[in-house]
Amino acid sequence: RVGRTLIRGGTVVSSTGRSEADVLIDGETIVAVLAPGSTILGFDVAASADRVIDATGKYVIPGGIDAHTHMELPFGGTAASDTFETGTRAAAWGGTTTIIDFAVQSYGQRVFDGLATWHEKAAGNCAIDYGFHQIIGDLNADSLQAMDGLLDEGVSSFKLFMAYPGVFYSDDAQILRAMQKSAKTGLMTMMHAENGPAIDVLVGQLLAEGKTDPYYHGIARAWQLEEEATHRAIMLADLTGAPLYVVHVSAKQAVAQLAAARSRGKNVFGETCPQYLYLSLEENLGAPGFEGAKWVCSTPLRSRAEGHQEELWQSLRTNELQLVSTDHCPFCMKGQKDLGLGDFSKIPNGIGSVEHRLDLLYQGVVEGRITLERWVELTSTTPARMFGLYGTKGVIQPGADADVVVYDPAGHTSIGVGKTHHMNMDHSAWEGYEIDGHVDTVLSRGKVIVDGNSYLGAKGDGRYLPRGLSQYLT
Ligand code: URP
Ligand code: ZN
Ligand code: ZN
Ligand code: ZN
Repeated sequence: RVGRTLIRGGTVVSSTGRSEADVLIDGETIVAVLAPGSTILGFDVAASADRVIDATGKYVIPGGIDAHTHMELPFGGTAASDTFETGTRAAAWGGTTTIIDFAVQSYGQRVFDGLATWHEKAAGNCAIDYGFHQIIGDLNADSLQAMDGLLDEGVSSFKLFMAYPGVFYSDDAQILRAMQKSAKTGLMTMMHAENGPAIDVLVGQLLAEGKTDPYYHGIARAWQLEEEATHRAIMLADLTGAPLYVVHVSAKQAVAQLAAARSRGKNVFGETCPQYLYLSLEENLGAPGFEGAKWVCSTPLRSRAEGHQEELWQSLRTNELQLVSTDHCPFCMKGQKDLGLGDFSKIPNGIGSVEHRLDLLYQGVVEGRITLERWVELTSTTPARMFGLYGTKGVIQPGADADVVVYDPAGHTSIGVGKTHHMNMDHSAWEGYEIDGHVDTVLSRGKVIVDGNSYLGAKGDGRYLPRGLSQYLT
């Protein structure tokens, strides 16, 4: 029994406002949000608590929900370097108390065999709660039929790829059929929107010209091919009535496509990731030698000269994009990224950020790019609503799971290997980033799992979260 905990003296921040309040937790659940120093029917709440956490001068926020991670993802002849154990521990350090990872149906495999494999990887290994989206990597008649059973398994969303021909790729005919299923069942269609066949032509041509450095990953995956695929996905969703969520949006032109569809009243949503807000084609992918491999991910980092990063921050303010996930997909430089020495197309795609999302977005608050409330909305409340977890997750209110972060705006976080780095990677994509804030205390269903510099979590604490349909569906 974790007992009764009072988080006292802090500022409770929600997606809609902030107030000075004490949060009372009994066992795994929030039972009351009280005016500071309250008694209940003459009963001294603090005196009856087993533990009092002093949050004076600090923000008390719902635990982060990272709706896009890839623990142990097989990719490019290797596998993402964080296991569910190491990845969820790193997430906890950074104030994320829920992940939604992508179960994979690989080519030639049945959908439910892929899902079962993901349950095996995660069960008993996670420090925080977890749910699954389903990647449909082989969209045949059997897979379409299996999709009818996903919701019963607590999986209310599936991802398709317009990129990666020969691996996860779906063509327009397959996408249309899956979206018809999505419209009928309410399952959210999540789309990797890049024109893969066109990208592969450009990749071949660049390599033939001897342009083999990581930088050319960003040239081959041109913004036009993200805009085009985003537009195509929106139109197919419009035709079929499928709810659509475009993952890892990086091009400002793709944002414009989403914004236009939303202004026509469509059920179209989009996420971006910290890497697209902060990093760039010129400074990162274009780093000297093979260094740029650290930042090879898809969609790619975009040109700062073209202004994508500023447009993305703006889209977060205006709600043209609704949430920020990490697309956490870590690979080490040695033995993994270096598979692509001399051929950028063989660099495993992905960046690891699961530990730093709350901090990186909080820096946006400090710099006046988003409000404190929007920070909570982008990192917790909207992910919960979007993916059918809201009420138990994503909010501090009686009846919700006691997933709570005490965040210190007077603290400081230096990101980098040997500093704050708990991800299983031999480098950090965020080396040298300084954050004017700090994750102080993290509770997962009432249990303190991070207390200052101490880690108190344990593998197996995290439970599988069956999810309902998106709470954004009309
Ligand atoms: O580069 C990325 N994004 N790797 C993970 C797989 C995906 O497409 O999300
Ligand atoms: Zn993707
Ligand atoms: Zn991804
Ligand atoms: Zn710390």
